[in-house]
Amino acid sequence: MSTTRHLLSLQDMPRERIVRLLDLAEDFRARGQQRELLAGRTVLNLFFEPSTRTRTSFEIAARRLGADVVNFDVSRSSTSKGESMLDTLHTLEAMQLDALIVRHGENGMPEYLAAHARSEVSVINAGDGCHAHPTQGLLDALTIRRHRSDFENLRVTICGDIRHSRVARSDVHALTALGAKDIRLCAPRALLPDDLREFPDCTLVEDFDAALQDADVVIMLRIQKERMSAALLPSDAGYFARYGLDARRLALASPDCLVLHPGPINRGVEIAPEVADGPQSRILEQVANGVFVRMAVLAETLTLPA
Ligand code: NCD
Repeated sequence: MSTTRHLLSLQDMPRERIVRLLDLAEDFRARGQQRELLAGRTVLNLFFEPSTRTRTSFEIAARRLGADVVNFDVSRSSTSKGESMLDTLHTLEAMQLDALIVRHGENGMPEYLAAHARSEVSVINAGDGCHAHPTQGLLDALTIRRHRSDFENLRVTICGDIRHSRVARSDVHALTALGAKDIRLCAPRALLPDDLREFPDCTLVEDFDAALQDADVVIMLRIQKERMSAALLPSDAGYFARYGLDARRLALASPDCLVLHPGPINRGVEIAPEVADGPQSRILEQVANGVFVRMAVLAETLTLPA
């Protein structure tokens, strides 16, 4: 299996590949569409979980590179009649697709499909369970890099439902690969991962005010109610009081601290509207960068030699 044919996770991805993808994303920003690059290739969006940004931006990215895009409607497909994932994979492969962009609730499903896919098919992870969301990690790194070049001295606070967040995991992998040393994780105990060894290079700070001190970047996360039992759930108001990012709290960070959130945002739960819509918010910039990053990922996995 070539190292660049698939994109499954950022864990252990060499810094050089991350930098190359971010540089390629910047190239696409500068050059715009390149419809000849993937002309005649077919990309299939296979999403078993809801998505607004990721699915749409993969589609836009693929079209800007000239690929044909098929959006597989899982709810109307035979997987809902009990067809196995492997039978679904082989059926789709028989139609000569080049890339499978997969989002699934189960950790490891993209790896599983990649291990069984035909050698000419690329598998791209668009988010699996709580495990990884590599294109989000890349687009967050790109968003930060456009404003801060010195990752070594960057202070990053990640706050929210870290336990269930594939975004937090991929962000940490991208940021540490790029040299970040001060990454603070902040969450109520119930929303921290069972095993903090998953985040060996991060510091745990329970108090959000303390976690925000002099931060250069704050990444807010949604509480993923769909992944937890009711027992874990704090009340929205109680949660906002302790972990919500409002203007008072943001003032504790460095004056030009960037505010990121992968979306969808829950206003008044993890972030106040004045911050989400405020001058330090980069949330819509993240969305825009998502298209360039996904163009880079499609170009890399579908055109670069191994
Ligand atoms: C995230 C996801 O699906 O992991 N959203 C996204 O892709 N932009 C985060 C979330 O759902 O909270």
